[in-house]
Amino acid sequence: MKATAIAHPNVAFIKYWGRKDEILRLPTNGSLSMNLSEFTTTTTVEFSEEFKKDSVIIDEQNVFDEAERVIQHIDRIRKRANIQLKAKVISTNNFPSGTGLSSSSSGFAALTVAGAKAAGLNLSEKELSILARQGSGSACRSIPDGFVEWLDSETSDGSFAVSLFPHDYWDIIDVVAVVSSEKKDIPTSTGMKSAQTSPFFAIRQKNISGKLEQAKKYMHSKNFTKFGELIEAEALEMHAIMLTQNPSLIYWSVGTLQLMKLVKKWRTEGLEVYFTINTGQDIHLLCESKNANELKSKLEHISDVKKIFINFPAEGTKLISQHLF
Ligand code: PMV
Repeated sequence: MKATAIAHPNVAFIKYWGRKDEILRLPTNGSLSMNLSEFTTTTTVEFSEEFKKDSVIIDEQNVFDEAERVIQHIDRIRKRANIQLKAKVISTNNFPSGTGLSSSSSGFAALTVAGAKAAGLNLSEKELSILARQGSGSACRSIPDGFVEWLDSETSDGSFAVSLFPHDYWDIIDVVAVVSSEKKDIPTSTGMKSAQTSPFFAIRQKNISGKLEQAKKYMHSKNFTKFGELIEAEALEMHAIMLTQNPSLIYWSVGTLQLMKLVKKWRTEGLEVYFTINTGQDIHLLCESKNANELKSKLEHISDVKKIFINFPAEGTKLISQHLF
C-alpha cells in the first residue's frame, strides 16, 4: 500500500481570488493555467498497520502547521477508501515554497494521486481533480496535462479541471524570476477570505467569465500578443482586489515592482514579454520560446534577481515507480 506521484505546480493566467464555499473550496469563478516543467513535487504515501500514528515529512523536515492540512487530506482519502490505517507521507519540492510559485498546487496534486493509489482507490482524472481541489484549490489544475481550465460550478462534483490543450501545444515559456527567499506572511487561503470586502470585487466577478472565454480564444488562435496583454491586465486586476480588500494585502517586494516596470520598458524596446504574479514576490515572465534566451540574459544583469527558471508547459500529475522511502 505504497505509491509515489510527481506533480508540477501551475501558473494561473486567469486567476481565482475568492470562494463561494470555503469548506468545499469552490471558487467564485473559473480559471485558466499552465503546468510548469522545471518545478516538481514528489510525494510518497504509505498506509500500513505498522504505523502507530500519521507522520508527514516535507523537504526533510517534520512539519507541524502544514501537517494538519496534509492529514486532513489523508482523512478524505481514508474515508473514501474506507480504511483506518495510519499513513506515512514524505514529500520533496525542487523549488522554493511560500514565495508565489504555487507549491501548494503541486503539493496537493502529488499527495492526492499518490494517496489515492496507496489507499487502493482507482480514480478517474476528474475524480482526482475534485479530490485535489479540496486540499488546495489550485491543486485541481495540476492534475490534467498542459493548458488547463478549472470549470466554474455551484457543486463539488462540477468543480474540477480539464486539459484544454496538451503541454506540447504552444511554444510559450514562463521565465520565473526569484527575487527573494522571504516567505509570504499571509497565506493564500487566509488572504482570500477577505476578497469580497474589496469594492471592486463585484465588478471583477461581472466580467471574469467573458475574460476567461477571451483568453481561451487567444490560446486557441495562439495570438500571443493579445493573450499576453490580457493575462498581465488580469494579474494587475487580481492584485487591485488584494490592495483594496480589508485588511489589504501587498505581496510585492521591491524586486517584483522593479521587474514589472522593466517588462513594460522591454516591450517598448521590442522584447515581447508579459508578467503575472500570484501571492508572493516572485514573478512569472511570459514570452515565446524564441525570446527566452534574450529575456534570461537581461534578467541575469539585475541584482535583485536571485534565481531564474525557464519553464516549458508540462504534463499533469503522474504515478512513478521510484519511492522516496
Ligand atoms: O488554491 P490556492 O490556495 O493555491 O490559491 C491560489 C491563488 C492564486 O494563485 C493567487 C490564484 C490562482 O488561481 O492560482
